[in-house]
Amino acid sequence: MDDPSQRSHACGKIKLIRKDIKALAAYHVPDSSGMIKLDAMENPFPLPDKLKASWLKRLGEVELNRYPDADMHTLREKIAAKDGLNADQVLLGNGSDEIIQMLLVAADTGACASPSPTFVMYDLISRWFRRPVATIPLENDFSLNADKFLQLCTREKASIAFLACPNNPTGNMWSESTIRKIAAGFRGLLIIDEAYLPFADRTHTDLIAPNVLILRTYSKLGWAGLRLGYLLGDAKTISELNKVRLPYNINSLTQASADFFLDHFSVFEKQAEEICSEREKVSKVLAAVDGIELFPSQTNFLLLRIKNSDEIFEQLKQGNILIKNMGSHGGLLKNCLRITIGSREENRALIAALKEILA
Ligand SMILES: Cc1ncc(COP(=O)(O)O)c(C=O)c1O
Repeated sequence: MDDPSQRSHACGKIKLIRKDIKALAAYHVPDSSGMIKLDAMENPFPLPDKLKASWLKRLGEVELNRYPDADMHTLREKIAAKDGLNADQVLLGNGSDEIIQMLLVAADTGACASPSPTFVMYDLISRWFRRPVATIPLENDFSLNADKFLQLCTREKASIAFLACPNNPTGNMWSESTIRKIAAGFRGLLIIDEAYLPFADRTHTDLIAPNVLILRTYSKLGWAGLRLGYLLGDAKTISELNKVRLPYNINSLTQASADFFLDHFSVFEKQAEEICSEREKVSKVLAAVDGIELFPSQTNFLLLRIKNSDEIFEQLKQGNILIKNMGSHGGLLKNCLRITIGSREENRALIAALKEILA
């Protein structure tokens, strides 16, 4: 049979799609309709009614027949001001995923280094660009050894490295001395990914340097549907990275929404506080359950290890509760489940279902 991905060409056979791309699996998002959704680190709270009404009014003023503001100076200025920085120190992306992609397009030739396990997109996007990936396993307690990481970067000639602080999927924050040592020792682009900053006790903005950048997202704070991430860094480095940003990458509705929500930021900060307080309550209950090994978290999710994790995941799913089964990644994640902190009611339902399954 004719393989449609291979067509004859005047100068011989050409392949339509690269072999290594064909071998990849697309990023899978499971169907969650009608379920309690605790799999994707979203904020469980809807917009308060009054705020929603003013936001919708603001959206009504957007001129959809026009292209979005391409430069977004005012929005960047507003975002920068929250960290005492300038607009030229901010790069905006369609989610921080898009910024990871820009970084991997622009970084000099060399490997992309990260600890393992960590956020999967560093590895996946590197592969799209045929960039070698270099990883070292975290220690058994999920800590990171700075010397081993720096040795890896030298040995594998890494030109870019990602450190998710706190880390996904392990939930922990590496020690400050570890991060400082790596920032001082690594010569390539170092990206400190602070996706979970709203739930963590420390930021790393004081480490910003020509090669050290801070990546953030509004997704976990309650705006996942907007797709807005940002990179903070040295103005010269940001202006180089801006050259690989697609024109109009942030649509007008997202720009208007972000501008509006930034003026009401305390609403989302309070929600994040509530999520942290729920996290502590859920942690206490789960840590006391026989058979559960619970790991400390500075994020809006919990990672736990438990025997028969596949079965437990499936049973929760049958009970309409969707969490993330991490076990298939193997290694340190064997028998691990990742649970996003939901609303009080959702967390109660999860705990009740888990206890029933384990009884
Ligand atoms: C560490 C980390 N970085 C980045 C992202 C991507 O976030 P965004 O929704 O902004 O693309 C995630 C999402 O889960 C994450 O866990």
